[in-house]
Amino acid sequence: MSEPILSVSGVTKRFGGLVALRDLSFDIQRDEAVGLMGPNGAGKTTLLNVIAGEYKPDSGAIRFNGNFITSLPPHKICHLGIARTYQIPQPFVNLTALQNVVVAARFGRGLGKAPAEKEASEVLDMIGLSEKKDALAKDLSTITLKLLELARVLASKPELVLLDEVAAGLTEAEIPKLLDTLRKVRSMGITVLLIEHVISVMMQAVDRIVVINEGMKIAEGAPKEIMEDKKVIEAYFG
Ligand SMILES: Nc1ncnc2c1ncn2[C@@H]1O[C@H](COP(=O)(O)OP(=O)(O)OP(=O)(O)O)[C@@H](O)[C@H]1O
Ligand SMILES: [Mg+2]
Repeated sequence: MSEPILSVSGVTKRFGGLVALRDLSFDIQRDEAVGLMGPNGAGKTTLLNVIAGEYKPDSGAIRFNGNFITSLPPHKICHLGIARTYQIPQPFVNLTALQNVVVAARFGRGLGKAPAEKEASEVLDMIGLSEKKDALAKDLSTITLKLLELARVLASKPELVLLDEVAAGLTEAEIPKLLDTLRKVRSMGITVLLIEHVISVMMQAVDRIVVINEGMKIAEGAPKEIMEDKKVIEAYFG
């Protein structure tokens, strides 16, 4: 097998006496979509923060395309090609949808004004948000804000995206649009790590699932196997 795009090895992250991640290891292959599951408080968002450089692990290492990124600051990791969304979208509320994406293209990727505007328009088109481009972010609905988060991520032209609960807060009727957008992201050759509680989204959007509980990996495998795994059922319902 070729070198993984992302390799998490033996990562431990403590907050005071709380061990949020405990000797966690797994790989993601290029072009794969991997789901990260686990009950509330399992450590999923903490792992995203560690990968993105927002938290430094107490021990262990993260490699991206073979290079250690564990000690790099978030903006350097972003420039290398890893972009993330937030569990709660954090747009600039007084900027338009387009301006929000322009900011990501300028600062995430270092583009000048004109190329950033062109890139941002193209991304909004691709996501199906062109009609909303001049609306202020504070006036946008939940689904539009979630898609805007994705647009911001794509504008930085990442190789790997870390998506934290993009389906949370969406209605059943809005899910197909999100799934369609995730398929487009994958068809652009972008590798995906997806945190998701909505099982139908997980089952349709990923090739493989890693399950963590209390910061430890308890299962890893194809979505169907994971749904039948006794340790997973126990962690969720036990
Ligand atoms: N900055 C922090 N300071 C202290 N404790 C934290 C911090 N961030 C997370 N934690 C704790 O670490 C544990 C894991 O939290 P995390 O947010 O990673 O869980 P999660 O799996 O994303 O949960 P959810 O499904 O509810 O989003 C929790 O006990 C949480 O309270
Ligand atoms: Mg979380």
